[in-house]
Amino acid sequence: MLDTKKIRADFKILNNPAGGQMVYFDSACMSLKPDVVVQAMDDYYFKYSACAFRSSHHLSEQATKKTKEARKLVADFIGAKKTDEIIFTRNTTEGINLLANAFPFKKGDIVLVTDKEHNSNLVPWLYLRDKIGIEVRICPSNINNTFDLEKFKELVKGVRLVSMVHTSNLDGVTNPAKEIVEIAHKNKALVFLDCAQSLPHQKVDVQDLDVDFIAFSGHKMLGPTGTGVFYGKYELLESLNPFLVGGDTVEFTTYTDYKMLPVPEKFEAGLQDYAGIIGLGEAVKYLSQFNFKDIKNHELELNQYITDEISKFPQIKIIGPQDPSLRSGIINFYLEGTDMHKFAIMLDSMAMVEIRSGQHCVHSYFADRKIRNSARVSLYIYNTMEEAKIFVENFNKIMKII
Ligand SMILES: Cc1ncc(COP(=O)(O)O)c(C=O)c1O
Repeated sequence: MLDTKKIRADFKILNNPAGGQMVYFDSACMSLKPDVVVQAMDDYYFKYSACAFRSSHHLSEQATKKTKEARKLVADFIGAKKTDEIIFTRNTTEGINLLANAFPFKKGDIVLVTDKEHNSNLVPWLYLRDKIGIEVRICPSNINNTFDLEKFKELVKGVRLVSMVHTSNLDGVTNPAKEIVEIAHKNKALVFLDCAQSLPHQKVDVQDLDVDFIAFSGHKMLGPTGTGVFYGKYELLESLNPFLVGGDTVEFTTYTDYKMLPVPEKFEAGLQDYAGIIGLGEAVKYLSQFNFKDIKNHELELNQYITDEISKFPQIKIIGPQDPSLRSGIINFYLEGTDMHKFAIMLDSMAMVEIRSGQHCVHSYFADRKIRNSARVSLYIYNTMEEAKIFVENFNKIMKII
């Protein structure tokens, strides 16, 4: 069981009396950061704010040591075989763009995605379609938004890369990654998984999944804003061309030539966000103290309560399966004909309940189904049943007047 009282004491932002009692239900967009993460970044800026890897003075050596430690923490966290398989990025989006630009695609290659991709795992492929003529194939979900493995088995034939969301930010449904990878590999396709929403909430072991590439964002897993990771199997990363090049990606240059550094340096051009990387390492350390089963059970308990309460209104439609155990910490709902931005703004102004409204960067799903927008509650380790009750109490008030 999670000790939310103890957890909440680790987050200054949740203990700010001047700010009133905020209910933060928007962690799928941006998680809060525990004080240890902010402290680690502060330490970098106040004590050893230098270039890692470049200079040989002691400040730089400290930055280098801490950056290396962070890479090792992340590698261990996801079960990577080698530390060098971890490439630091700004976010998931950058990781996917790296893959789209570095992978040796040619005209006619097929990339298979689902019908629930975040724009970050759809636009890079549509863009590549327009730029070099790849084909983007869409794998439709079952009627309740769960993954249709039978359909996948048909559509994966002839595909070069399967690029799919692991846990959807739209409805919280987790796709069966292990089966997807196994079937894809049998069909000679490589697999990229968008782990932005899975990695903060469940164990993702890249060797166990045998997945070829993944990407995720530090800011959704208690880490600093603007940090992310792209992972790839070492031999695959070695075979990719770099995406961005310049300082730190080369061993030496002449006026006419250059020699690239190996993985991961060849993918990390220019000075990096060392404070962010070090903070991300700290977030991984912090998150590692919890058992993912406890996180899952905690989110499910709150999700079940909220789902039961809002489902008392038959006009409320929940996106995805009705069963909360299939939706992890996400409850995304709408009322036909209602602008759900209004709903979210009312929750904020009435009781400082912070949720997200809109199309959640999955515009394609909303456009296809002609749904205007929705309101999304997303839960995490620091949320409590008291907060869920505040949400429901105000939800009920809004339902009376909207
Ligand atoms: C499933 C999924 N993929 C990709 C992204 C993009 O993440 P970022 O904006 O950190 O690059 C998000 C962000 O919400 C997401 O939920």
